[in-house]
Amino acid sequence: MNKITVKKKLYITTPIFYPNGFLHLGHAYTLTIADVIARFKIINGIEVVLQTGSDEHGEKILKSSLANGLDVKSFVNNNVNKFKILWDKLGIIDNYYFMRTSYDSHEEKVKSIFKELFDNGDIYRGKYNGLYCISCEEYYNNKESLNNKCNSCFFDLTIISEDCYFLKVEKYRRKLIEIYKKREISVIPNSSLNELFESFLNKEMPDLCITRKKMNWGIQVPNDSDSTIYVWFDALCNYLTSVHGEQSFSHNDWEIIHIIGKDIKRFHLVYWPIILIALKKRMPDKVISHGWILSFGAKMSKSKGNSIDPVFLIDNYESDVLRSYFCSKISIYNDGDFSEEKLLDFYNSFFVKKLGNLFSRIHSMLEKYFNLEIPFEQSPFNSKNVEDLKTFFYVNFLDKEINLYRENMDSFSLTKAFENVELIISETNRIISLFSPWSLSKENDIKLLSELMVLLPNSLKIISFIIWPFSPKTSKIILSNLNFKISEINFSNLLDFSTMKGRNMKILKYHVFERKFIS
Ligand code: MSP
Repeated sequence: MNKITVKKKLYITTPIFYPNGFLHLGHAYTLTIADVIARFKIINGIEVVLQTGSDEHGEKILKSSLANGLDVKSFVNNNVNKFKILWDKLGIIDNYYFMRTSYDSHEEKVKSIFKELFDNGDIYRGKYNGLYCISCEEYYNNKESLNNKCNSCFFDLTIISEDCYFLKVEKYRRKLIEIYKKREISVIPNSSLNELFESFLNKEMPDLCITRKKMNWGIQVPNDSDSTIYVWFDALCNYLTSVHGEQSFSHNDWEIIHIIGKDIKRFHLVYWPIILIALKKRMPDKVISHGWILSFGAKMSKSKGNSIDPVFLIDNYESDVLRSYFCSKISIYNDGDFSEEKLLDFYNSFFVKKLGNLFSRIHSMLEKYFNLEIPFEQSPFNSKNVEDLKTFFYVNFLDKEINLYRENMDSFSLTKAFENVELIISETNRIISLFSPWSLSKENDIKLLSELMVLLPNSLKIISFIIWPFSPKTSKIILSNLNFKISEINFSNLLDFSTMKGRNMKILKYHVFERKFIS
């Protein structure tokens, strides 16, 4: 048994997003991955807290607010409201927690973390002379740059020479190496761990500058009104300053997973664990870094002008389609090029031709032969003796695919898990053609016909249950058509055919199952 199945509570986080404008499709991707994993844990009976939020301080946000002619507080408030609208449209679980770094409680806790580390000698006063990227809010004292331009956003770097505070990093390098060697934190994918050793842990690491001078949009350093805590230090602490953060980082019965994009690995794999070690806190269990959504071959960003609006896509295609596309077509560890044409293709091939078609075949057969009532009483499932099931091999196949799906989801191989769903759909379609219920009705083979008419709606139950993490709305619609609530189903009763007793299907018109063209 692995850690995932043992721990009964999960604290899963996304990075907190900069509220300096609209969020693009890449941001929606990060949150979707976290939500899909959260939902999978929920259907495994795990208590889940999903935390996301906004990273509101710093020079970048201040400059954007000025450029927009707004005071910084109104500017971030407006943008944070837009985040919440997007999360809602994207179908994120209702009870997620939204952390804002401008909350008083966060600010107070960050100050006290800073003070604790300063009093312990892990933070000390010094001077920073070097380069800084305002757009990424990143110091360049331990990073190479080409022509004084940022490696990530390609904007010009700024020269900074100011008194500041440093966090001791090199002091904890050996301890960090030990943590990673013992797999106390699992880094997923494993290649990120090798990179981490090559780029950082195998050589001396400069201490990190963690304050800015005369930058008043941020949290003040305790007892030093001229200095402001560096946004990344402020932001990383958000994982700890929420009520659930405090609880889970103090108790080992919580599993802690951080979902991040690959561009922010250094902060999460080097500095964050060092802050935790210095605070004598436990480590997160897993840090999962995903690739980028590319648009026209490049990382999507506002400055490059290639960003895609997720709200437009959701309004045109439904959130389930976008979420499922992310999980089915983009392997989370690689970059994935996005285009509306690809989304449309996926929509028509999965939702219309595969799932929609299967649904309507089963629905119309049940209507024709049993007036939409599931014939449980007439079927062999009614007796204890089901060894003579003609569909025994198919039931075995379902069992095997469900187990593979679980394994794949547990190891975050979302594309593979989605393939398991697709295999179940195609095999179910094959079974319909193989047994051709229309000829059974003519031959008067009512026993086999009723067997199929219990089995096939039950397969719809299975499919809707396992697509719930990817496509919660579609799942709910199919399940309610079968008079099921998601809470009545679990992995132990997926192949319990007695759950079909007394059920019927309703007439359903669901727009996502209808063919779509680019409008
Ligand atoms: N505020 C910091 C995170 C602090 S967490 C303590 C930040 N914010 S961000 O708004 O720039 O990015 C938030 C997340 O979105 C990051 O994980 C980043 O990798 C992700 N993405 C931004 N563009 C992306 C794509 N084009 N594709 C996929 N994810 C991308 O960094």
